Amino acid sequence: MIVATSGTKVEQSLQKLGDELFVKIFFSPEGFADPAPFYRRFLDEVPVHLPSSGGAVFSYYDHCRELLRDNRFGKGDPAASARLGVGVGGDEELQRYRAKIVEEQASQPLSMLGLDPPDHTRQRSLVSRAFTPRTIDKLRPQIAALVDSCLDQLAEAETGDAMEYLAKPLPVTVISRMLGVPASDWPEIREPVTDLVAALEPSATVAELELAMEARALLRSYFAALIEKRRDQPEDDLLTGLIAARDQHDKLSEGEIVAVAVLLFAAGAETTTNLIGNGINQLLNHPDEMAKLWQSPELVPSLVDEVLRFDSPVQLDARTCLEPAEIAGLSFEPGDQAITLLGAANRDASHFQNPDVFDVARYRAGQATEPVMSFGSGIHYCLGANLARVEGQEVFAGLIRRFGSIEAAGTRSFRPRMVLRGLETCPISVTMRE
Ligand code: HEM
Repeated sequence: MIVATSGTKVEQSLQKLGDELFVKIFFSPEGFADPAPFYRRFLDEVPVHLPSSGGAVFSYYDHCRELLRDNRFGKGDPAASARLGVGVGGDEELQRYRAKIVEEQASQPLSMLGLDPPDHTRQRSLVSRAFTPRTIDKLRPQIAALVDSCLDQLAEAETGDAMEYLAKPLPVTVISRMLGVPASDWPEIREPVTDLVAALEPSATVAELELAMEARALLRSYFAALIEKRRDQPEDDLLTGLIAARDQHDKLSEGEIVAVAVLLFAAGAETTTNLIGNGINQLLNHPDEMAKLWQSPELVPSLVDEVLRFDSPVQLDARTCLEPAEIAGLSFEPGDQAITLLGAANRDASHFQNPDVFDVARYRAGQATEPVMSFGSGIHYCLGANLARVEGQEVFAGLIRRFGSIEAAGTRSFRPRMVLRGLETCPISVTMRE
């Protein structure tokens, strides 16, 4: 039970407002279209929210960072995330279904994303070398070449959905090559990833949860079979490296290799797709900023961070209290949950000047600006942050190099999802450079 310590006000009317704002963001078409106005109200009116269904919701940058870095909070109950949103907009059938998932997940090996130290540390250290800035920077030429081949097709079509031509194929190609997933297998496993991550949404319906569980089973059996194959025929890829770690030092169980492979494939494919799509969308929404970028391509790294800040592909993170702790004027007991609204933290005026302005030059070299909260913080800080940034940078650099302009060519719509936020379609037309 979370209790407000001295000086923290918990008024009934604010609790009601916070509940309404949460439902607006994670359950309503207005929230899916643009959560920013609701985040503004969270920040201004109820930055520390105690939902009527339990737990705490943080919006301020400092509170989010403090929580995510505090090791008295962690993943705890292996399936804590499956319970998110229960009680807020969830009906009884949904709650029963989520409880079933909780039980099932508890019996299967988890990836690092769901683990606390020491297991988290053991797993993460086995793969972290593949994601250092130096290793990822070496992939730049390959990534640039892949971007070019996506852009060749878009150039030929002149008009098309940027999600299909660029945002979806690039990240899946990159992470597949790193892991060692043959290109011929993507059609079988790319869509299940989108189905799987729907389970993260508080608004997921029973039908979506069922589909997500089927997708999880399919991905697990796909990777179990591929791991078997790699054991017989080792290659120079991440999967072979994980198998070697298991076979030589017994550092990973067989089930853990599968869980890590599914995590890397899903995290590598889905989120970066949304970084690219959300970036194109914001440039189309802000033609002056697009013109500025086209005139000064050296701003591309700054643009990528500004997109991450302004319209984060991941909007929510959560922790469970592991030991009694006090944070943000609240005292927590083991089992209490806390949610961080990453999209709100990225708009906190005490860290970002004019936070509701989309400014492609915000992160230009030499400009001191707080890091985005979009990759989380603390021990679970996104392992793929360098990779996501490099992919994003190569995409926008490629677009500028190749095209004189890009324009909207139809209605853009967001998927009815918020934890992993991204576009359904993004029709554009391109004009070649003179
Ligand atoms: C723009 C793209 C991306 C965003 C916004 C993003 C965001 C995040 C966030 C917020 C977390 C922390 C979760 C937590 O605290 O529980 C995380 C963890 C993680 N991400 Fe990413 N991610 C992105 C791209 C990638 C890519 C390309 C990969 C590549 C494989 C990746 C792999 C991971 C992994 C393995 C973790 C778990 C780390 C751990 O538990 O220690 N992510 N990501």
